[in-house]
Amino acid sequence: MSNYHIKNLEEYFQVYRKSVREPENFWAEIAEEHFTWRKKWDNVLSWDFEKPEVKWFENAKLNITENCIDRHLLTRGDNTAIIWEPNDNSEKAQHITYNELHKKVNKFANVLKSKGIQKGDRVCIYLPMIPELAYAVLACARIGAIHSVVFAGFSSKALATRTLDADCKMMITSDGSYRGAKTLNLKNIVDEALEDCPDVSSVLVVKRTGEEINMKDGRDEWLAPLMEKASDDCAPEIVDAEDPLFILYTSGSTGKPKGMLHTTAGYMVYTAFTFKNIFNYTEGDVYWCTADIGWITGHSYIVYGPLANGATTVMFEGVPSYPDHGRFWQIVEKHKITQFYTAPTAIRALAKRNIEFVENHDLSSLKVLGSVGEPINEEAWHWFNDNIGKNHSPIVDTWWQTETGGIMISPMPYVTPTKPTYATLPMPGIQPSLMDDDGKEIKGNQVSGRLCVKFPWPSIARTVWGNHERYKDTYFSTFEGKYFTGDGAMRDEVGYYRITGRTDDVIIVSGHNLGTAPIEDAINEHPAVAESAVVGFPHDVKGNALYAFVILKESGESRKRDNLRKEIHQQISDKVGPIAKPDKIQFVEGLPKTRSGKIMRRILRKIASNDTSDLGDTSTLLNPEVVEAIIAEAL
Ligand code: WT7
Repeated sequence: MSNYHIKNLEEYFQVYRKSVREPENFWAEIAEEHFTWRKKWDNVLSWDFEKPEVKWFENAKLNITENCIDRHLLTRGDNTAIIWEPNDNSEKAQHITYNELHKKVNKFANVLKSKGIQKGDRVCIYLPMIPELAYAVLACARIGAIHSVVFAGFSSKALATRTLDADCKMMITSDGSYRGAKTLNLKNIVDEALEDCPDVSSVLVVKRTGEEINMKDGRDEWLAPLMEKASDDCAPEIVDAEDPLFILYTSGSTGKPKGMLHTTAGYMVYTAFTFKNIFNYTEGDVYWCTADIGWITGHSYIVYGPLANGATTVMFEGVPSYPDHGRFWQIVEKHKITQFYTAPTAIRALAKRNIEFVENHDLSSLKVLGSVGEPINEEAWHWFNDNIGKNHSPIVDTWWQTETGGIMISPMPYVTPTKPTYATLPMPGIQPSLMDDDGKEIKGNQVSGRLCVKFPWPSIARTVWGNHERYKDTYFSTFEGKYFTGDGAMRDEVGYYRITGRTDDVIIVSGHNLGTAPIEDAINEHPAVAESAVVGFPHDVKGNALYAFVILKESGESRKRDNLRKEIHQQISDKVGPIAKPDKIQFVEGLPKTRSGKIMRRILRKIASNDTSDLGDTSTLLNPEVVEAIIAEAL
């Protein structure tokens, strides 16, 4: 019997020990019992972090869509696979059964084939959160083509860079997209991008908004008539365990984006296993992850992980603020959501709103809450716990990365006691280690350092597309023989991990290591504060000093700002220590954010250092106007 579903803490510790002592047996048992293979592997794992090279389930043969769709048809063909909730809540939601999903994916796969797409070809997908996005992803996987999804909020320039880098042959897009009250013409963006991408010979267009668009003769075609004509029978292409499944770009701290390559079998096994345990999914549950499929969270925990478990997964086209700030809670009530997985930035934004937006809805279906993407600050954690979970739905604070493919450190609901701001314990098979700056492993508890992983797990990215050197440099060169995450973490007295943020966010002030996250936590706990970001800037005596950018809940805050500064200082002194008091506190209207909601600290560091002549690449910035306003008022 494999350890597919862990039921209590004691069992977790047993399973974890086994996963470390006999990793190959551990994963082989799970793989064997819970998935469909056309041929078994010859060897469970071979690896070398020096090279670096990792191979799981070598020479096994499978198709991931057979595992995510076909094998459920006998037992749950009429169960809902995907609930699609449109942007506009007057439009009807769609309930797509596994049977229907099977037909759509097969048809789409046949369309791809008819356009000459073959195993190993790259297909770029630039679509809003509509069902065709899921069909497109799965159709690629059905025929062994490699999908490269680009978030449909990226600019034409960003789209072109990614399309070129992956050398895509085909683009799948739509006429337009709805986001809240806005309509965006996506096809225009694609047309502009493709001026730089001559090798894209075919563009499939989904009709969504009815926007006026150009269709280029011989290149562009509407999808619907092709789907109509296509057969709904398409045998899955049987691929090797280590054949590529997808490329997904992640922005590096410098240089062009990295195309992280994920392969088939290990990714499937790991995302399925973690989905089951971290969300405690049981038959009949309705799971909702609010991410976009354009990010890894959507790949692993809207599409592959849930479908591999035969789950019902929700796709939401819209935004949390439309038609009002109660939309998330309205959807929870409407579809009786049992697991709700979102990002701290969304939680903070909604926590600022009138609590009636929450209280007007029945949230009693909820059993598990999840958080991902950045450290969740204490205030947001408590707001989520008290108002959404009503103190009875455990919060899983899931730490992971595009590169890790699946969740690495997280509580499991009803198994791991939670602790605010702590991602808690490693998943089975994950061996974290904390390293000091001299490259030595820091043993024991109540320590902090740079977070590495010293043993391969099944869903680790295998390379940076077209640039294995960069893969090696970025992840395997900082600490010998270890995967370096780029994050800092601390381990508390019981071995729980708290992610303190990117190590480039660690600021050394007068010889003291300060993580920005705890300082921001302290600032955010002030009742007048909505959000903050702390960065370092050079200082004659201290080496570095701290600069805090603070958004107030009400910009017309009546109290004097100097008083507010004093109170914030006091708060930080109390929570972190006097050493962590910022030299400068600037009140701002907004913070520069990437489209995925991450604060672009690089820009804030430049502003704090009074060095704004060259802000570097700002193409992924969501709100450039904010930057100018901050610079104009910089202290
Ligand atoms: C970075 C990875 C993986 C899904 C979305 C982000 C930060 C992610 C947490 C968390 C603290 C977190 C880390 C990580 N991060 N989750 N629960 N607590 N930090 O993927 O864009 O590849 O970013 O996000 O800094 O390295 P990504």
